[in-house]
Amino acid sequence: MGSFVTQKPHAVCVPFPAQGHVNPMMQLAKLLHSRGFHITFINTEFNHRRLLRAKGPHALKGLSDFRFETIPDGLPPSDRDATQDPTALCSAVRKNCLAPLCDLLTKLNSSPNIPQVSCIVSDGVMSFAIQAAMELGIPEVQFWTASACSFMGYFHYEELIQRGIIPFKDEKDINNGYLDTKIDWIPGMKDIRLKDLPSLLRTTDPNDILLDFLRQEAQNCFKASAMIINTFNDLEHEVLDAIAFKFPQIYTVGPLGLLSQQMPESESKFITSSLWKEDLECLEWLDKMEPNSVVYVNFGSVTIMSDQHLREFAWGLANSKYPFLWVIRPDVVMGESANLPEEFIEDTKDRGLLVNWCPQDKVLLHSSIGGFLTHCGWNSILESISGGVPMLCWPFFADQQTNCRYACTTWGIGLEINNDVKRDEVESLVKELMEGERGKMMRKKVLEWKEKAEEATKQGGSCFNNFDKLIKSVLHPSE
Ligand code: UDX
Repeated sequence: MGSFVTQKPHAVCVPFPAQGHVNPMMQLAKLLHSRGFHITFINTEFNHRRLLRAKGPHALKGLSDFRFETIPDGLPPSDRDATQDPTALCSAVRKNCLAPLCDLLTKLNSSPNIPQVSCIVSDGVMSFAIQAAMELGIPEVQFWTASACSFMGYFHYEELIQRGIIPFKDEKDINNGYLDTKIDWIPGMKDIRLKDLPSLLRTTDPNDILLDFLRQEAQNCFKASAMIINTFNDLEHEVLDAIAFKFPQIYTVGPLGLLSQQMPESESKFITSSLWKEDLECLEWLDKMEPNSVVYVNFGSVTIMSDQHLREFAWGLANSKYPFLWVIRPDVVMGESANLPEEFIEDTKDRGLLVNWCPQDKVLLHSSIGGFLTHCGWNSILESISGGVPMLCWPFFADQQTNCRYACTTWGIGLEINNDVKRDEVESLVKELMEGERGKMMRKKVLEWKEKAEEATKQGGSCFNNFDKLIKSVLHPSE
């Protein structure tokens, strides 16, 4: 074995197997690769097949020092090209993934052609990897891919249970004023109501799988050597200070999309993590549009809605008369494929483009985009800030309610749409977003946040420096 091979640090990256988690882990893996790490990136077998389908075999060939491996997720085999049920997935991953991960690490460490595994970076909801790292005596870093405020919310599920606030006593509490209860005791979180905390607490079942999963995973993060968060200090400083008070080893490195732009272009740039095939023609369509003129609509990889809500969005967009790019995932409507009325298609054919999936990071950086109708997934919010695009917010579940609250109040970059969405509201909010007074204020504000995000990620900025510190003090201390 050559000395170069033995000396290179080797990071094993273990994302949670969903699009909104695999993407930021891939960004982080590429950044580590650009700093000389050998990378093993672990997908589930299910996602590996989907990635191959979306991009073809070359996309996952990797490089000699950036390799892909797979582990099973423990769910029944399936060839579907769709989002897996979050509850089943969380439950399966927690139960089933540790043993295959340990076997894989043993295999990697007995392979003569690759360096010994020197650290594990796993998603903040894949804490079983901490145990695997302990067995090898190497550092383990938990990567919280979502906002710091969502982390704080999940972290306090434990105390909410102890205080008797959750689980709810009655099914009715889920839809009545109980959700307006003020929660004024979580450090670093001001003006928060129960309804602004991650929505997985809306249950009456004390054994609810997702409630228990997130409660434990958030607590487990502090058992790792360190925690990385995809955010930047200016955006979430109060809550970050509160987390650091309990667990000082936190490293903010976001927005990772902007930090990546600071690194030299490397051979890994062709490696992708999109689980659906992207429609690239939408970028050419955007090239033909006026600056800031297009409404971009996308509800991410997990949201599902009723057929009726889909129609309300459609007619609201049509009636606003603005051009729009709308990404309609094939499985966005529960139990059926999304069908829009013929009249809508006819009415908007000159100004609307519908696609299944797009390269969202590029879309949000395009100068034609004037506003983003989003479900408030954390990657979407960061990409919107990075593109300087104000938002209409229609949170679906989990951290999205918390992100929405901050976007619409503390950060001043979003307007919330009622959960039971109606076309008139969509129409008037789209108009407000694109040309109203509040829209103008939000655009100004989001450009200020964009500048702060660029500041944090450029050479010498807080996140740039944190990434460096993370490597030197945790992941590869001898560097
Ligand atoms: C999920 C959760 O729902 C989200 O709240 C959490 O913060 C992360 O995990 P998802 O719902 O898919 O993610 O939303 P989001 O966080 O926005 O991530 C979606 C990712 O897919 C983004 O990086 C986005 O750029 C990408 N994407 C989405 C595309 O590339 N093309 C698309 O058409 C849609």
